[in-house]
Amino acid sequence: MIEKELINAVRSQFAIEWYGMHGIRHWARVYENGMYLAEGTDANLKVIGLFALFHDSCRQNEGTDPEHGVRGANLAYRLLQKKQVLDRVALELLVEACRCHTNRIHHDDSTVAICCDADRLDLARVGSIPDPRLLNTAKAKERRTIDWAVERSNGDYLPDNVLADYLRLEIHGSSKTHFS
Ligand SMILES: [Fe+2]
Ligand SMILES: [Fe+2]
Repeated sequence: MIEKELINAVRSQFAIEWYGMHGIRHWARVYENGMYLAEGTDANLKVIGLFALFHDSCRQNEGTDPEHGVRGANLAYRLLQKKQVLDRVALELLVEACRCHTNRIHHDDSTVAICCDADRLDLARVGSIPDPRLLNTAKAKERRTIDWAVERSNGDYLPDNVLADYLRLEIHGSSKTHFS
């Protein structure tokens, strides 16, 4: 679903700690959170997966960096506009999700809403418990969903998906077959 070369391209410009609190381990959990929230909905899974890859990809520090969403959106557009990965409408959704995850709490589009919730559900890694009032979807607001995400975030859990596999390949030299 996400090509290794695309992750390589994102990594090559990543300016902060790759294994840090806004790096690939966080992205892998955002991916998993998003796929979980999208189950049974008509949300765009490709957009949600790519949001996990791009949303924090252009952070310049681990603290306050309010423009990183816009920069991540611009990188996504630049790297994907000539590929066949997303159609025009889906690419616009991805750009919107990356842009607004830093400055909007609620969103009417279900795919964008899931992207933002997926990111917010991984807040425990930085010492915050996700507040249901700041989440969009009913599933994300459920106590059991928040507890599930908090436990993983606190434990720096590495799930089983393409972004986690990239990391496993890097560290162990082997992975499963999530790459397209
Ligand atoms: Fe972010
Ligand atoms: Fe994030």
